[in-house]
Amino acid sequence: MIKAQAKLHIGTDIPEELVTKVVAILAKRGSGKTYLAGRYKEEFVKAGIPTVTIDPMSAHWGIRTKYAIIIFGGPKSDIDIEPTDGALIGEVIVKENLTCLIDLGDMKKDDQRQFAADLWTTMYYYNKTPRHLIVEEADIFAPQRNKSDQAKLSTIALDTVVRRGRQKGLGVTLITQRPAVITKDVISQADVFFFMHMVDSNDIKVINEIMSNAGVSKEEKKGLLAKIINFKPGEALLFSPTWMDTIKSFKVSKKESYHAGRTPMLGEDELPDPTLLPVFKDDVIKALNDLTNGTTEEGGTSSTSNTCDQKTTFYLGLGLAMLFFTMMVLFL
Ligand SMILES: Nc1ncnc2c1ncn2[C@@H]1O[C@H](COP(=O)(O)OP(=O)(O)O)[C@@H](O)[C@H]1O
Ligand SMILES: [Mg+2]
Repeated sequence: MIKAQAKLHIGTDIPEELVTKVVAILAKRGSGKTYLAGRYKEEFVKAGIPTVTIDPMSAHWGIRTKYAIIIFGGPKSDIDIEPTDGALIGEVIVKENLTCLIDLGDMKKDDQRQFAADLWTTMYYYNKTPRHLIVEEADIFAPQRNKSDQAKLSTIALDTVVRRGRQKGLGVTLITQRPAVITKDVISQADVFFFMHMVDSNDIKVINEIMSNAGVSKEEKKGLLAKIINFKPGEALLFSPTWMDTIKSFKVSKKESYHAGRTPMLGEDELPDPTLLPVFKDDVIKALNDLTNGTTEEGGTSSTSNTCDQKTTFYLGLGLAMLFFTMMVLFL
C-alpha cells in the first residue's frame, strides 16, 4: 500500500506517486542517466513499490548487490529468456507482483524490440495496481525513423503504456541519450523531465521546444539551458512545471548498490565483479511452468478432478455399504 505524501529521496524529494507518472531522463552519454534511474529504483524498492526495468545495455544488474530482485536474462541471469518470451514474462510479473530486471543485453536489437512489445502489451492487459516501468535506451524501442516491423510494434506498445497506462496503474521512465531521435509523441507525454548534461544542438532544440510548450519565458529558458550545458555528471534539472509545480537543479544522491554501468577510470585495474545477493526464484519458476502448461488454479484442472475423485469414492463406498447391508439381511 502506498503511503500518502511519502517521498523518494534522490537528492531532492519526489512524491511516491511518481510510480504512475511518465518520466523522461534526457542527457548526453556519461551524464548520470542510468545512475539517477538506479537511485530512484532503490527508493521504490525500499518503499515496496514494484518496478520492472528493461535494460538493453546490461547496465542495471548492480542493484542485486543490495536488493534481492530477480534478473531475467543477461550476464547475471537467474532465469534465462528467449526473444519470444515477452508475453509469458509479462503475465508472470503482474500475477506474481514481481519487482525485476529484464536484461536484454544478449539479444539483437529487433529481438529486444519483439520481447519488449510482447511484454508491455501483456502487462498493459493484465495490470491493475501501481507499478513503474523503467525503459533504458528508450530510443531503441520508439525510434523516430527506424521502421523495422519489430520497431513498429515496440513503438505502439510503448506509446500505449505511456498514453493510457495510468488508468491501469502503470507509470513509465524513458531514458535516452538521444532526445532528437526518439518519437516525440512518446517523450512529449512526460509529467516529469530530468535534464542532465547536454550540448548537441539538435538535442538542445528538443529541450527548448519542451520548455516553450510548458510556457517557460525566453529569459528563463536561456538561464536553464545554460545550466544544462554546464552540468557535471550527476547534476540534473528537475522540470515538472505542472504535476510538481517545480523547476529546480539538484545533485543526484549516492546510490546504495553497485553501478554496473560505471565508467572505468584511466589507469585502474579491471575490478572484480561484486557479490550479488542470493534470490529465491522457485515460486517464479513454478508460476512460469504453470502458465506454460496451462495448470493454474484459475484453469481449475486440478481442483475439478479432485472433486470428481472425491464424489466417485463417496458413491462407491455408499454402494458397497448397501450391498453389505443387503447380504447381512438375507443371511439372517
Ligand atoms: N550522482 C552521481 N554520483 C556519483 N557518481 C555519478 C553520479 N551520476 C553519475 N555518476 C558517475 O558518472 C558515470 C556515468 O554515469 P551513468 O549513469 O552511467 O551515465 P549515462 O547513463 O548517462 O551514460 C558513472 O561512472 C557514474 O558512476
Ligand atoms: Mg546509461
